[in-house]
Amino acid sequence: MKIPPTIIVIFGASGDLTARKLAPAIFNLSQDGLLPSKCFLIGYGRKEINDDQFREYLKKSLELHSRRKIQGDAWNIIAENVQFHAGSYDNSESFDKLGDKIKIIEAKLGEPAQCLFYISTPPGVFKPILENLGISGLAKRHRQKEIESKVIIEKPFGRDLSSANDLNETINHRFEETQVFRIDHYLGKETVQSLLVQRFANSIFEPVWNRNYVSSVQITVSENLGVGSRGGYYEKSGALRDMIQNHVMQLLALTAMEPPSSLNPESIRDEKVKALQAIKPLVLKGKNPEIVRGVYTQGLVEDEKVLGYLQEEGIPDNSFTETYAALCLQIENWRWKGVPFYLRSGKRLASKASEIVVQFKRPPEILFGLDERFSLSPNLLVIRIQPNEGITLYLNSKTPGLETKLQPIELAFGYETTFGSNTPEAYERLILDSLNGDGTLFIRGDEAETSWELISPILDYWQENGRKGLENYSSGTWGPLAADKLLLSRGHEWLTGKQY
Ligand code: BG6
Repeated sequence: MKIPPTIIVIFGASGDLTARKLAPAIFNLSQDGLLPSKCFLIGYGRKEINDDQFREYLKKSLELHSRRKIQGDAWNIIAENVQFHAGSYDNSESFDKLGDKIKIIEAKLGEPAQCLFYISTPPGVFKPILENLGISGLAKRHRQKEIESKVIIEKPFGRDLSSANDLNETINHRFEETQVFRIDHYLGKETVQSLLVQRFANSIFEPVWNRNYVSSVQITVSENLGVGSRGGYYEKSGALRDMIQNHVMQLLALTAMEPPSSLNPESIRDEKVKALQAIKPLVLKGKNPEIVRGVYTQGLVEDEKVLGYLQEEGIPDNSFTETYAALCLQIENWRWKGVPFYLRSGKRLASKASEIVVQFKRPPEILFGLDERFSLSPNLLVIRIQPNEGITLYLNSKTPGLETKLQPIELAFGYETTFGSNTPEAYERLILDSLNGDGTLFIRGDEAETSWELISPILDYWQENGRKGLENYSSGTWGPLAADKLLLSRGHEWLTGKQY
């Protein structure tokens, strides 16, 4: 589909995300010839900087963060179409002035352009921006589908169920759902996109992708970084809001959903919502709760001494924000009844790894299972999202020799080995899709709310309990012991980070 002339407006233009991800994504899309030839960028922010200062800032960001280096005249061509608009987020006059700038660009173009509003500010101002886009008429500028305005909303989408409902109400009041793109950058990652292809373009998986063959599913999204300079944001967020409610739940939905009836965005999102709706509310207390939370203390990460969370900049002494969360979920539907889904995510863990591990049931103990000599391992399908994107199937095989001995072997596929490196970044794919009006890889309003329905009671429970039940873990480990017990008490163990 040909993208019409476009004006991208980034709210929060002088922020970290613009520098690290958005500017590089837009630059690389333009270098690949995927943006319309008539494409303009307006940075919107509270800082009083002029167009040239903003251009300089973007250029530096590209030098630091773009996967492709600036060559020849590439930057100068883009810079001509870049400007900055200093304004506040809660004053409609600033939006009227933005509207004037948009009209001037359109007048020069001699034709209407679609606007893509990218809200990449702190979440506290999402609502006034959405309201003001409505009040100023920018939300509904052109009614023809191809050039209607579009809005991308960064995460976090709300901080609990009621704030997510509230945000959705504002959105529904000001926009049509087809104009709205709630972003979760994990959905733009290559391996996550290909999850649907692996599941539904191969006939060998579907027959075994259920409670009859699968004994558990584990999803780990671990990071070895700490909160760094983002302490202020993180303290109000924590691992559950920052990673589990969105990225990890999206991975879960794609792994657990039923086959959609078509590749139409709504068919796919309907199935994801159904999978999320089937999750049973979690057991929060008692002898065998289904949740664990932890916070990192000082330790060694890659041989370097690092601070504990409480010593990080901007973290109050009485903080009880979790930097690690692990959950055991039950999906109460025909396919998954009785199969535990274990999810975990944390900062300052032993290494950065995002993986989905599907563990299959052991074969009947008739031939090889009974005898200890054979040490039969369960089959595993490991979908590695990052780093070293790929898929590995672990099977039992006979070791060469006169004795019959078994050993797990790997059938491995690595993205880089097969397809080479330099794949587009998640934000490139997602920005391009939103310009094309394709919402498949974005979160629908009801999807966000369904995920919050599950997560909000946990947050309330933790809030009531303060530090009680918050486990410490040393930086550079795989998290609190209580998270190991969560699985051991259910007959499983965490597999990511272990030798399979
Ligand atoms: C962001 C979180 O959404 O995802 C960060 O706010 C986290 O805390 C980041 O570090 C991880 O993303 P990635 O792509 O590096 O796995």
